[in-house]
Amino acid sequence: MKRLQPLIMLLVALGISGCDPQSRGFSLPPGDVEQGEQVFMNMQCLSCHTMEGYERPENTEDLSIALGGKVKSIKTYGELVTSVIHPSHKLAKGYDMSKIQTEGGESVMPVYNNVMTVSELVDLVTFLESKYELEVYDATDYSIRH
Ligand code: HEC
Repeated sequence: MKRLQPLIMLLVALGISGCDPQSRGFSLPPGDVEQGEQVFMNMQCLSCHTMEGYERPENTEDLSIALGGKVKSIKTYGELVTSVIHPSHKLAKGYDMSKIQTEGGESVMPVYNNVMTVSELVDLVTFLESKYELEVYDATDYSIRH
């Protein structure tokens, strides 16, 4: 365990500074929020997802995974891209696992990689990103002591 410590420290440092060597140099061109909204509607993401301000279609799946809204830690662009092009990479937390994954442990979310163009993906992720808001909480003020 002792010998692992420097490695763990290094991984933590890399994680915090965000310079993961695996993703260095990764950059997608800027996207268009409105076009992205169009992709979001066309691909019927709302059949399994909910998003504030958007009506769900009638034939929804028995799933309502919230996208966007106030979150405690913001989803990075990279995480959102990964969620769309590789849904099983890391399954969303806090849901009934038997509903969100198949027996083989894969995400039940379809993989759109063969139906979505790269431009559509870029616009979609730009749209999604614009929908997340960091929840700012009031930290308890311990400085006033009586
Ligand atoms: C058949 C149902 C289904 C459809 C359709 C679907 N998803 Fe999902 N999606 C899921 C499930 C289940 C999860 C949670 C498991 C996971 O993380 O893959 C998920 C997770 C996600 C996440 C990660 C959420 C989080 O909080 O970590 C994003 C982002 C996402 N989906 C975007 C989309 C977009 C964009 C579309 C449309 C192009 C879409 N999904 C279509 C079922 C679906």
